[in-house]
Amino acid sequence: MHSSNLLHCHDIQHQYNTYFFLLHTHLCPKNTTLLLLQLEAAKDIQTSFYSKMFPDSAYAIFGGTAGTGSLFLKQYLQATSTGHINALARSPGKLVELKQSYPKKLSIVKGDIRDLTTVKQTLIHEGRLVDTVISSIGMVIDFSLKKGFATPDSTICHEGTVSILKALSELEADPAILPPSSGQRTKLLVLSTTGISDYGRDIPYAMIPLYHYLLATPHRDKKNMEKVLEKSDREWIAIRPSFLGNYEAKGMGSVRWSVEGEGEVAVGYVINREDVAGWILEKCVLDGEKNWRRWGGKKVTLTY
Ligand SMILES: NC(=O)c1ccc[n+]([C@@H]2O[C@H](COP(=O)([O-])OP(=O)(O)OC[C@H]3O[C@@H](n4cnc5c(N)ncnc54)[C@H](OP(=O)(O)O)[C@@H]3O)[C@@H](O)[C@H]2O)c1
Repeated sequence: MHSSNLLHCHDIQHQYNTYFFLLHTHLCPKNTTLLLLQLEAAKDIQTSFYSKMFPDSAYAIFGGTAGTGSLFLKQYLQATSTGHINALARSPGKLVELKQSYPKKLSIVKGDIRDLTTVKQTLIHEGRLVDTVISSIGMVIDFSLKKGFATPDSTICHEGTVSILKALSELEADPAILPPSSGQRTKLLVLSTTGISDYGRDIPYAMIPLYHYLLATPHRDKKNMEKVLEKSDREWIAIRPSFLGNYEAKGMGSVRWSVEGEGEVAVGYVINREDVAGWILEKCVLDGEKNWRRWGGKKVTLTY
């Protein structure tokens, strides 16, 4: 899909939203039923645009059962009516409601990211490799006054990424598995973090003690994960959000981004999970190839 067409779709969507807003506020302020029906219609129009643009794309998500990954999964399913996504889950029960709402578009694979067999299952849809993999795998971090920050799994992001890359390579070498419907090799987008840049400070001064001392273990893991990506011959993007919040989305207009080593660094304190998920969906999934050409092989910071 050409970006000009995409812009066109966004324009139309914007016009619809504006039209309904004006209708609501000026013409029939009390008729909320009508407004809701019209908003539903606008959502359907948006969904159908996206579906026409990406009819057959298949995705796999790791870390889709919690936090940013689960928000991405929900947003993806809401924004598209065709296409497919596989989600690996240690506890599939966490995705039961979503599966009931989207029985055809979502497949759940019960497994663990360190288990190559279940990782491979997650990477295949209808005999083909998926087009794009999203990994929002993260570690559980416990805090106690006695021990400070501790984690039972200090290498999960590094080893999880190794596992995805190994599974992809093995599947690509398997003649029984077809390539992605796009005809290109499967791409990988991972969630990394700010505070690990080799190009100088990318966090506010006040965050330095938290990031460099208290969160040293998860950040070492993320750094090792990024090194694995850098050595890989696959197309990848590492998204580096600043500290994640659970508040409502502020919208794409509030999100600042920068690419490591290119121009001014977007330095900020926090960003809400919902906006990180929305940004990835809009820029790296629904926006097609354009931004992969722009950010492929790069680390992109997101913050407010
Ligand atoms: N928290 C922050 O401020 C911050 C800042 C920058 C970047 N990040 C990164 O941003 C991403 C999203 O963070 P988040 O806090 O929104 O999500 P999160 O709560 O850290 O979610 C972690 C996900 O990873 C899954 N997971 C962990 N170990 C697994 C394993 N062995 N096999 C399969 N799945 C496994 C979890 O599954 P279960 O549901 O089974 O546990 C969950 O779905 C993470 O990569 C995180 O490191 C976080």
